[in-house]
Amino acid sequence: MTINFFQFNPIPIVSTEIPVKQEWLDVANNFNYVRMPADNGHYTSYKYVLNKLPGLQLEIAKVIEYLTRDILRINKKIGFKFLNSWINIHNKNDYSHHHYHSNSVFSGVYYLKAEEGQGDLEFNNNTYSNNIGSLFKYEYDELNLINSSQHVFRSRTGSLIIFPSHLPHRVMPNTSNNKRISLAFNVFPYGEWGDSEGRMSI
Ligand SMILES: [Fe+2]
Repeated sequence: MTINFFQFNPIPIVSTEIPVKQEWLDVANNFNYVRMPADNGHYTSYKYVLNKLPGLQLEIAKVIEYLTRDILRINKKIGFKFLNSWINIHNKNDYSHHHYHSNSVFSGVYYLKAEEGQGDLEFNNNTYSNNIGSLFKYEYDELNLINSSQHVFRSRTGSLIIFPSHLPHRVMPNTSNNKRISLAFNVFPYGEWGDSEGRMSI
């Protein structure tokens, strides 16, 4: 007997490695940084930093292309463009609370400098349940990507991860004395598509 297992509509997340160039760190170090309103980190006051990092922007765009075309098979009449991009600096004990990215469809983070203990990225699909349902909180012999409602991505220098913007996430505290530098960005579609009352032009 063959039993088939189907995953219907899983959350699409992609990750890859892009070696960090010294010139990108030099650009990052030259921005003006302000303390975040939540008082848990600093970020650039300039919110279009990828415009100043064209080489990195090109590399990230290739990964967005892979996600939207190869994985999601979105028609090429629909383009995807970078909206905001900013750099975060987490000094010792800085962190990011649970949040998602509004007014955006895909978001991502690239680690210009991040080591073990400096704050991993945790995704939370649903605080109170998972796709199995919320009635029972089962005990599992093993946690995996099917039964977990949380997943931790180990944030390390050179890693890039792109995920749906509505997916809640947080960043663990930086326990190191060294600063952690990450670049975050939001992506939005543009073009014309759809029919009749569902016609979209943005
Ligand atoms: Fe975020």
